[in-house]
Formats: sequence, C-alpha cells, structure tokens
Amino acid sequence: MITSMEINSAPLAPGVQIPLIGLGTWPLRGEEASRAVAHALELGYQHVDTAENYQNEEAVGEGIRRSGIDRDDIFITTKFNTEWHSRDGVREAFARSARRLGVDYLDLLLVHWPNPQQGRFVEACEGLQALADQGLIRSWGVSNFKPEHLDLVMDTGLRVPINQVQIDPTTSQPELLAYHREHAIQTAAYSPLGRGAGFLDAPALTVPAAELGKTPAQVALRWHMQHGRVAVPKSADPTRQRQNLEVFDFALTSKQMLAIDALESGAPARLDSDVFFH
Ligand code: A2P
Repeated sequence: MITSMEINSAPLAPGVQIPLIGLGTWPLRGEEASRAVAHALELGYQHVDTAENYQNEEAVGEGIRRSGIDRDDIFITTKFNTEWHSRDGVREAFARSARRLGVDYLDLLLVHWPNPQQGRFVEACEGLQALADQGLIRSWGVSNFKPEHLDLVMDTGLRVPINQVQIDPTTSQPELLAYHREHAIQTAAYSPLGRGAGFLDAPALTVPAAELGKTPAQVALRWHMQHGRVAVPKSADPTRQRQNLEVFDFALTSKQMLAIDALESGAPARLDSDVFFH
C-alpha cells in the first residue's frame, strides 16, 4: 500500500502535491462507480479523477464517503463542460461539482475541452485562477489543450499548472510533451493503458514485465511514472486496481524506457480538441 504522498506525487502549486496514480472513473456510473472508488481508496489510492461529463460525480462522492477515509486525505480532480466558460460560469461549475461530490472544496478543477470555436477558454482559466485565489479549489488546470491553446492562456500572464491529455506508449504526443517541459506544465495522462488498444502484448512491455515479475500494464504505468507524469488508469476490477497502484517498488532501466518510448506510432490523440468538445 502506498503511504507516502510526497514520494509518489508531483508539485502543482505552493503546498499542493498531486498523487501520480489516480483512479480514472470513466465510464463507470452509479453503484459500480461507488464500489470501485470505495475499493480503490481502501487499497490506498489517494487520487480520484472524475468529470461533470462522466455523470458519475454523485456516485464518486458516495464511494468516497463509503470508504470512511478522511476527505482531506483524498485528492479529487474533476472537469467541467464548455458551457461554463466564463468567470461566473466557472464559479457555477465549481459549485455544482462540489455539491454533486458532497465536498466543500476541490483539489483540482480542469477545463475539460478548449472548444476554440466558442473562444472563451482563456476566460475559463482566469475564472479558475480566481477560484484558486479564493481557496475554493487548491489548484486548477486544463485538459485536451494543444500548444496553440496553451499559448493563448499564457499570453495573459497565467501559468498553466497541468494539462491532462491522452498519452500512452503508442500515442505519446512528443511535440506536446516537449512543449509541456519547456513551459513547466505538469502532464497527466488519461487512457494511460490505451483503453485496451492492444499494445500490452508488445515485447517492450512483456519482456521487462517477465524479468521484473510485473504485468505489462504495470510496466506501462511505471514508464509514465519515470517520465514524471500523473496517470489515471481506470479499472473497477479489484486485482487490476491493486496492480495499477503497485508501480513504486521497481524501476525500469534507461534502455527499457527507450524501448517503450520507441512504441510511439505518430498517431494523434483519438479526439481532436479543435473539433470535439462537450
Ligand atoms: P477493466 O476496467 O476491466 O479493468 P485506460 O485507463 O487506459 O482507459 O484503460 C482502461 C482499460 O484497461 C480498461 O479496459 C481496463 O479494464 C483495462 N485495465 C485497467 N487496468 C489494467 C491492468 N492492470 N491490466 C490490464 N488491463 C487493465
């Protein structure tokens, strides 16, 4: 069980650390989501990732309460839809998510999609910074932003703490990650295991897994960790939940890391955030 948030976390803002492994909750809903969240927290997960659009925030909140774990010991990330992209809208989005989750503050609130046609994501980021300044959220960030979207936010003088994007060994978006490094933006990976895309049988993962007595999924998550990324693997399965947390007791060599890096296929993210939004 992971007990030290300091070692297995990354800094997001002064005094705010984000645990590197979080439980992804899409597409879990209802009782299945509550049960998965409660079980993960009992296993030692300290971070749960949800969104307004997943329609499971009430169920996630129920799982948190059911676990009996102190809310202050849990890092809660949620995200809001583009209808809330204004200063007042962001405040309303916060209030609604907090109410659904049954909490009075959030650890991390993200702009879920930039929706550049609507063109109000910069306002949304300014609204989030205001919420953070008021202490309603501990930190803020964005999701599915491309460098050109991030540029527009940073042109206002705001620093973007984190961008949650689709990253896995075959879709590793190298230009975007280089941009994150250049601008000190923390990366969080969603679909970190590729949502069953089939690369878990690649020798770059299976060979180290066999050598280390781990599973290919654990090797993939360890690869994310050693790149300093947050990852939010989804599983409702108790065995897989445990496996996905047990990635801090082994290390990949630089040769093994490079072999996994080489799985990059050049494929873009599944959804184009210049077009797709909700
Ligand atoms: P399940 O939910 O049945 O455990 P991602 O987070 O990248 O979207 O991946 C989620 C997918 O990967 C789900 O299909 C999930 O299945 C599966 N998965 C999650 N953890 C593991 C694991 N440790 N080993 C293999 N597959 C996993």
